[in-house]
Amino acid sequence: MNKKQNWIDQRFPLTKTWNEHLAKYYAPRNFNFWYFFGSLAILVLVLQLVTGIFLTMYFKPDAANAFTSVEYIMRDVEWGWLMRYLHSTGASAFFVIIYFHMYRGLLYGSYKAPRELIWLLGMALYIALMAEAFMGYVLPWGQMSYWGAQVIISLFGSVPVIGPDLLVWILGDYAVGDPALTRFFSLHVVALPLILVVLVFLHIVALHAVGSNNPDGVEIKKTKDKDGIPKDGIPFHPYYTVKDIMGVFVFLIIFCSVLFYAPALNGYFLEHANFVEANPLQTPDHIAPLWYLTPFYSVLRAIPPMFGSQFPGVLAMFVALLILAALPWLDRSPVKSIRYRSSPFKWALGVFVISFVVLGWLGMEPVTPRNVLLARICTFLYFAFFILMPWYTSIGKTKEVPERVTE
Ligand code: HEM
Repeated sequence: MNKKQNWIDQRFPLTKTWNEHLAKYYAPRNFNFWYFFGSLAILVLVLQLVTGIFLTMYFKPDAANAFTSVEYIMRDVEWGWLMRYLHSTGASAFFVIIYFHMYRGLLYGSYKAPRELIWLLGMALYIALMAEAFMGYVLPWGQMSYWGAQVIISLFGSVPVIGPDLLVWILGDYAVGDPALTRFFSLHVVALPLILVVLVFLHIVALHAVGSNNPDGVEIKKTKDKDGIPKDGIPFHPYYTVKDIMGVFVFLIIFCSVLFYAPALNGYFLEHANFVEANPLQTPDHIAPLWYLTPFYSVLRAIPPMFGSQFPGVLAMFVALLILAALPWLDRSPVKSIRYRSSPFKWALGVFVISFVVLGWLGMEPVTPRNVLLARICTFLYFAFFILMPWYTSIGKTKEVPERVTE
């Protein structure tokens, strides 16, 4: 074994990489369950890539055959139903994990200096993931694939001056049809997965350059022993590899329960209308994207059209998404972790989470006067969280942060 290892090490930095990033990578010793979601995100990314490869072997990316080829996968291909449901349930699981992962960042101020770049790369991942999921949902060519795409893509037509041309350029046609399906397939299967893998790599490189934050928000690199090892650090391998595997088992129990007993999760993971083939002549009663996109869809619907144009709503939707990237520069608090934050921040975070969840729920509901009013209030609160952040993070009394991590 040693001879083989030496042979490789002389030609490739295997042992060096293993030590630098695992066996001698010191992570804070106080990680709690919020720290499972990063490794779970990698697990689900791999799951999506592998099941995606199998689905691509049987899927037909053209408007005449796409729906039937998915039915063929479900009924006739050996284990096809499992591949398809792993992939569709995996997509929703990915977003559950990513939302928890991002919320952890908010709880412990993980986006604050020196981790701004980790956060920005995370934001790029989040946006790429939304595009990946949106395009994937169009592929089975069900009613909601078709009409969801029609609604979302037509928004680009509202951009002043270039809108109508932009729309035709994106669709390759005047309406959603075969050209849109084929290019979405190409982007979903080749371009975006490549982008996601590269971004995850950069995200981890950036993380390992500065080291992980932790539930206390204490920088462990500040207190080192005589050998230069952080006193509050433990080697990632074996301690956190073992701990993360425990997280994987808990995740798999929950994931498999949904996968085998309720893969469509009553329309939340696969909408009912998507079990009917796309019909350009029949609009479904109620069009809504899947749950993970609905908070932003709600913002879009909350803003009324101006001069007959939907552009203000479209702009608000994109700003609502992109403003998350500004967090590291909006937060002026001297402390990172929620444990030591002032009460104005705790209140603001609570109101923000409630408004985000309510917006998500409203995006799945039909438009009624009551729902529109509620969506407007929540949109206001959502933006207030960011716009007022420089103010409320600089007032109020923070608790003293300890020198070392607490048990
Ligand atoms: C495919 C998507 C993603 C993958 C595979 C991924 C993976 C990881 C991993 C493995 C870690 C280290 C373990 C951990 O701290 O949990 C991490 C840390 C981190 N991620 Fe992500 N991530 C993804 C998306 C995101 C997104 C969308 C954001 C935020 C916009 C984000 C922000 C962060 C931050 C701030 C840290 C450092 C946390 C800390 O040290 O407290 N990540 N990520």
